[in-house]
Amino acid sequence: MRSIAIINQKGGSGKTTTTVNLAAALAEKKKNVLVIDLDPQASTSQWLGLDAHDKNIYSVFVEQIPLSRIIKKYEQKHIWVVPSSTWLIGVEKVLAHEVGSETILKMHLEQLDHKQFDYVLIDCPPTLGILTVNALCAVQEVIVPVETRFMALSGLVHLLQTIEVIKQRLNPALTIAGIVPCRVDSRTKHSKEVMDELKDNFKEILYKTAIRENIKLSEASSFAKPIFEYDDESNGALDYRAFAREVIKQEAR
Ligand SMILES: Nc1ncnc2c1ncn2[C@@H]1O[C@H](COP(=O)(O)OP(=O)(O)OP(=O)(O)O)[C@@H](O)[C@H]1O
Ligand SMILES: [Mg+2]
Repeated sequence: MRSIAIINQKGGSGKTTTTVNLAAALAEKKKNVLVIDLDPQASTSQWLGLDAHDKNIYSVFVEQIPLSRIIKKYEQKHIWVVPSSTWLIGVEKVLAHEVGSETILKMHLEQLDHKQFDYVLIDCPPTLGILTVNALCAVQEVIVPVETRFMALSGLVHLLQTIEVIKQRLNPALTIAGIVPCRVDSRTKHSKEVMDELKDNFKEILYKTAIRENIKLSEASSFAKPIFEYDDESNGALDYRAFAREVIKQEAR
């Protein structure tokens, strides 16, 4: 079981789009994927058509309900989901003074049957609060989607430092699977400049696949379908398939 947090504290960097479509692309390759929505915005849950009233990850953090009890089968083969809810906003406060609260999710993941899933993908909120720290303590790897515009790089160094601190203090096994550039628009000079900067500064951890700007990806979310069911031939579908191949290939390391 490979466990991966999709993380970037910057809002709108492509975390949810990457979580949903990477999961669907891996599932196409017959990989069993558990998607955990750890964001109170619950965008992944909505994208996957889950009801806000379903039992959700809040119960795991606050009521100590086992994770296995809130896993739901998604309609596409090979995908399971743990939904989120807006209630999760309150978790930061509830857990702030609880000793060891940063390892709650880790304990729950360890209790899962590791043969049941090939991948666990965790969609994180755009903060570095207790929920994201829980994800970083629970997983072996992180994928960092970076939007190739609007000062996206400014927070990246801080994020990588945070990951390093968690690695040193709480999760020595943590590694960076890679940075994936998202919303790349090769027609704009700005997007190209950001790509060059990523290549110059983060070459060793930069995925070869870049996810192009593609309106079909945002349309797919309002349609509540992964890109492959919405427009199987779009650039978005091609890019996330290529990305999944690259992620799978990392296992040969
Ligand atoms: N490659 C793309 N092409 C076009 N639009 C995209 C692409 N990737 C993401 N988007 C759009 O950009 C917006 C932000 O993407 P997304 O929700 O995946 O980011 P996020 O990091 O999860 O955001 P948040 O931090 O709020 O959780 C969404 O409206 C999404 O549809
Ligand atoms: Mg999101």
